[in-house]
Amino acid sequence: MSTETNQNNNPDEDFLVVENLTTTFNTARGPLPAVGGVSFRLGHNETLGVVGESGSGKTVLSRTIMGLQPRTNVEVGGSVRFDGHEIVGATEAELREIWGTKVAMIFQDPMTSLNPVTKIGKQIGESLHVRLGMSKDEAKARAIELLTLVGIPSPEERYEAYPTQLSGGMRQRVMIAIALACNPSLLLADEPTTGLDVTIQAQILNLLDELQMKLQMSVILVTHDLGVVATRTDRIIVMYAGRVVEMGRTKDVFKDHRMPYTRALLESTPRVSNPSHTRLKTIPGRPPNLLKLAEGCAFAPRCSRATEKCSQERPNLEPTGTDGHYFACWNPLDNQSAPVSSSTGSTKEFGEDNVRS
Ligand SMILES: Nc1ncnc2c1ncn2[C@@H]1O[C@H](COP(=O)(O)OP(=O)(O)O)[C@@H](O)[C@H]1O
Ligand SMILES: [Mg+2]
Repeated sequence: MSTETNQNNNPDEDFLVVENLTTTFNTARGPLPAVGGVSFRLGHNETLGVVGESGSGKTVLSRTIMGLQPRTNVEVGGSVRFDGHEIVGATEAELREIWGTKVAMIFQDPMTSLNPVTKIGKQIGESLHVRLGMSKDEAKARAIELLTLVGIPSPEERYEAYPTQLSGGMRQRVMIAIALACNPSLLLADEPTTGLDVTIQAQILNLLDELQMKLQMSVILVTHDLGVVATRTDRIIVMYAGRVVEMGRTKDVFKDHRMPYTRALLESTPRVSNPSHTRLKTIPGRPPNLLKLAEGCAFAPRCSRATEKCSQERPNLEPTGTDGHYFACWNPLDNQSAPVSSSTGSTKEFGEDNVRS
């Protein structure tokens, strides 16, 4: 946990403030706006879910927030501040300082981030040695402590193992250990359990929950799977075509969503208690081509409620009246039409009583 409030420009500010963030790739076929004007805030100790279909811009948003986007052929606009420190336009040295002490990220596939020919203990120790200047012995002791913290059995033995000798779940635990090595105030997890089997997924997600409480971190949990965020986040932002189309407290987004896309996502998500033979709805049509985004709402071509206005004018985020709950839609669903009362599914199946408020 960072206590460097002396460097904070504005101590009253939320821990993370993202304002009108844009990420545009310069491609051979023209500019591709992968993130189009995203704004949100995250407090200390809060957990935020970022959800959306594949291709909706979650990973590009995550990498841009972390300052990990390469600088060639990409233009980033807007602002990202951690504890008052600006990321957009920061120098390599400034970013390193922030990565070392304030924020860390874990990715979907640990194998692409772990070095297959280096023992895992050494990989954890390296970041302690390089970033925190620990001696070799100190780093080893701390690495074993971290392996224990993330629930790896026989940590002394595993310290000597190569990544390929561990299961997928264990490798993700190692990645979490590496991410936690520098006591970050924010852990950003991009699809941390996609590709793992269901039991292991639950174990990793529970571990993240536990660690958040123990270490008092903020967490951003990025996933295409709404079932993952239902019980594990305080707030959610829903992304479509690089923009936020709905945001609010988790409870409000699940029970009182207004954006038809949010409902479509909910209806296409396997429920925790859903029998596996229950047929899920798929969202009709395809995600839009970001190189040819139309003027209006990007979801309009797939939306059963779309009118002419939807394809002509883009709706901005409007407040629902419930604290912090916003949606971008010209023909929003009303409160009663939430799928709680529908015959096809119910937020109850997500563990309604457990959905965080
Ligand atoms: N380096 C890149 N160059 C050009 N387009 C990219 C690049 N990286 C991602 N994109 C595009 O940005 C959009 C958002 O991608 P991504 O953030 O990976 O989606 P998600 O994580 O939600 O599945 C996609 O259309 C993707 O093709
Ligand atoms: Mg992604």
